[in-house]
Amino acid sequence: MKVLILNGPNLNLLGKREPGVYGTQTLADIEALVRSRGSALNVEIDFRQSNSEGELIDWIHGAAGVFGAILLNAGAYTHTSVALRDAIAGVGVPTIELHLSNVHAREEFRHRSLIAPVCRGQICGFGAFSYILALEAAVNVNVGLERA
Ligand code: DQA
Repeated sequence: MKVLILNGPNLNLLGKREPGVYGTQTLADIEALVRSRGSALNVEIDFRQSNSEGELIDWIHGAAGVFGAILLNAGAYTHTSVALRDAIAGVGVPTIELHLSNVHAREEFRHRSLIAPVCRGQICGFGAFSYILALEAAVNVNVGLERA
């Protein structure tokens, strides 16, 4: 199984960006963690980051027929992007929304996710471990689909 992990805007700054909120691990640290869990689960990981909404959308389009699932930390686009939501709905690849921080315990504008209704589920609040939980969920989401 292949899983596409997409990281949106400002996540390239992890490690130095608001460490009180996001922790001190860099995106490269998180990638290494996820890759290690991925090989234990026999999952092939493609891990990417972009600050551009359009590039994220193109990557979602390209996932159809290639990846079994998408794990998406859309960053701030979570709260603003109808286009990302339409891309997820359009390609039909099971997508799991994830966040490092608990967006529901933060500013009110982070409580609304435009992508949540078209995702299989949402994981937030566990720091880098949110990625591991999302990966575990993706494996089981696909098992569910295979059995359906
Ligand atoms: C985030 C939460 C978003 O609200 C924020 O804009 C981010 C990071 C998270 O992982 O906690 O950039 O997606």
